[in-house]
Amino acid sequence: MRRHVKQLFAGALLLVALASAVVWRNLEGEAELLPDPPPGATEAGDLASASLIARGAYLARAGNCAACHTERGGAAYAGGRGVETPFGTVYAGNLTPDPATGLGRWTGAEFWRALHHGRSRDGRLLTPAFPYPNFTLVTRADADALLAFLRSLPPVVRANRAAALHWPFDSRIALALWRALYFTPGSFRPDLRQDAEWNRGAYLVNGLGHCSACHAARNLLGASGALADHDAGSRLPGQRWLAPSLANPAESGAVSGPRAELVALLKTGQSARSAVLGPMAEVVAGSTQHLSDADLQAMASYLQSLPRPPATGQGDSGHATERRADTLARGAELYTRHCADCHGAQGQGAPGIYPALAGNPVVTMAEARNLVQAITAGGFPPGTAGNPRPYGMPGFDLPHADLAALTTWLRSAWTHDASPLSEVDMLRLR
Ligand code: HEC
Ligand code: HEC
Ligand code: HEC
Repeated sequence: MRRHVKQLFAGALLLVALASAVVWRNLEGEAELLPDPPPGATEAGDLASASLIARGAYLARAGNCAACHTERGGAAYAGGRGVETPFGTVYAGNLTPDPATGLGRWTGAEFWRALHHGRSRDGRLLTPAFPYPNFTLVTRADADALLAFLRSLPPVVRANRAAALHWPFDSRIALALWRALYFTPGSFRPDLRQDAEWNRGAYLVNGLGHCSACHAARNLLGASGALADHDAGSRLPGQRWLAPSLANPAESGAVSGPRAELVALLKTGQSARSAVLGPMAEVVAGSTQHLSDADLQAMASYLQSLPRPPATGQGDSGHATERRADTLARGAELYTRHCADCHGAQGQGAPGIYPALAGNPVVTMAEARNLVQAITAGGFPPGTAGNPRPYGMPGFDLPHADLAALTTWLRSAWTHDASPLSEVDMLRLR
């Protein structure tokens, strides 16, 4: 119900804004705004050197192109997977070199324009379910390498499927408006006050890595905020998980901890103290585990430099009087029975095997969605080269009252002081 109200409201907002002349400027005048692509290092004919293809394959990992452009059980990069958005489903296309249904006829300039400007080969505006607000930063040379790699794949005949968006988001005008409001093609400008490593990290995180596509909160019309925002990251459409803010130590322990642990988490899915779950496990499996140590160090250097919120804005506290003694006793008992064997009597975990729960923002974050999700769904960190057979956690099917008691206790144990959770919260969060 709440979703429908939000959608109606967003629709109304959009309709009002439709009247604005800015749409027409964008629709009619965009051709003029379209910059000339920078001269390509390569064109169709000579896209095939082995080193260029290898570089493109690496960059495709950095951008996790296969994750969206591969249907479950389907041929890699042949498209068909639906990307869910609050406005409907958009299907990622066929990136294999089939001339009729894939990228076979695309030139280097057309491909770069799709990444940079969010336009298809025929000029059609693309929806931002394709993360071109991030990919716009990709250099022409990197786009050429990506295309060389995609051209080296076996061609697969697979026609693209049209997006299934709700009215009024299904119109070209709505998309043009959205772009006028929220999208400006950009290019990566190095920050000269920072070193080369930091700049490489910024390019990867904000460009191909498209971390902000999940980790920055979105507004009602689906536009991402900045990675540096400190509010609870965003709830992913179609997902039960929340992607925490990477700039707020109250939400991400990994980014505020030692650099080596953040690198290990991106490389292996696990660090001494934490582990990735849900959608992030897929990001590690499909993308970050394949990146070089130098690139992961660079990404960590950039992420750890994101401006932190003032100390007072970091945590949830002052809830001691809201907790009931009987609830806490019940929660402590459930913890000892179900969890302590793995996570330790003091929530200390076991380094590299079981994540610590004491001091873990997943436990204490104001928005407890991932805590409830971890307990009820359990999970396996991804199997990676650095950690081929990770330990998993079973899901626990506890009654709502028990789940509320357990989470309330966890959020007060070991010096934690986060808000208690009720049975009603469980209904909302599960
Ligand atoms: C988060 C999911 C996602 C990721 C990651 C992603 N794409 Fe896409 N891509 C899409 C969707 C969805 C569309 C279709 C957009 C539309 O039709 O409006 C698309 C469209 C495209 C198009 C335009 C195809 C056409 O026929 O017009 C190209 C080219 C493309 N993607 C290349 C890439 C490359 C290269 C990467 C990796 C660097 C990548 N994509 C990563 C979701 C994704
Ligand atoms: C498809 C959405 C998605 C994308 C893209 C994504 N993440 Fe995540 N990420 C999540 C979710 C959801 C979580 C929370 C679950 C968890 O902790 O594993 C998470 C968790 C994390 C954590 C752990 C935070 C903590 O301390 O508990 C780190 C670090 C992280 N992501 C970094 C990144 C980086 C760097 C990128 C870009 C290369 C990225 N993520 C891209 C969804 C995403
Ligand atoms: C058999 C061992 C085992 C048991 C029992 C177990 N866990 Fe876990 N737990 C794990 C492992 C392994 C992970 C990491 C899973 C992953 O990354 O997918 C984990 C992850 C978590 C996380 C996410 C931590 C993070 O940093 O993202 C939470 C929260 C959690 N467990 C809470 C609990 C609670 C509460 C219980 C008791 C109801 C419990 N676990 C029981 C092994 C266990």
